Amino acid sequence: MIDSDIKDILSDFKRLRDIPHFISFEGIEGSGKTTQAKILTSALKKIGLPAILVKDPGTTKLGEKIRKILKSNIEISPTAELFLFLSARRQLVEEVIKPALRKGKIVISDRFSHSTLAYQGRGRMLFPETLPMLCYLSTGGVEPEIVIVIDVKPEVGISRLKERYRQDESKKDRFEREGEDFLRRVREYYLEISKTQENVFIVDGENEPNEVFKMVLLKIYNFSKEKYGLIK
Ligand code: TMP
Repeated sequence: MIDSDIKDILSDFKRLRDIPHFISFEGIEGSGKTTQAKILTSALKKIGLPAILVKDPGTTKLGEKIRKILKSNIEISPTAELFLFLSARRQLVEEVIKPALRKGKIVISDRFSHSTLAYQGRGRMLFPETLPMLCYLSTGGVEPEIVIVIDVKPEVGISRLKERYRQDESKKDRFEREGEDFLRRVREYYLEISKTQENVFIVDGENEPNEVFKMVLLKIYNFSKEKYGLIK
């Protein structure tokens, strides 16, 4: 159910000259970012905007295969893992994101390069000096115009995962099995960049999903108003 506040904000979107054409969602496990990315895509479509949803890693044939490997329990060294993420992203950029942006579509990505900096950089503590360059190779310079971080405390994320895997804990992937310390480092990275990068916004993900969505819309609306202005 879309409540009336959300309807009002969405109708204000029609007064904007433009909105960002590449929006990414970030957050730790159990933050609810996938739900938010989905709701945003369908809400934008409902008001007539050509939004598409992509998942990193995923969406392309190669990306889905890599995602399966990463989600499986086969042994993967941290560096090999990094290169799998980078490969999946490069394919996503070439095959889906660039063509969509060229056609004027609005791309909403469930995770993107900031995940590598957060998980492999901070979580796994890999290559602090060269990681940004490696990320650049994976994106070819195609970066989100705005990044929305759905923020929850690690203990909240972990307890949501416990609920999700109540029947069978063995279904957890390699990241979902990481402990609180790992997630704390990942979260800290997101919180830090929100203070230094003007296009990175934190939304409290511990609220109820409709409330979270309202905040997501407001962040995008205010950012767009500031950057593109309103139709006179
Ligand atoms: P998710 O898309 O279902 O959240 O799962 C993807 C997992 O992969 C998640 O735990 C975060 C992790 N990840 C990285 O470690 N590095 C990356 O670059 C990306 C995109 C995801």
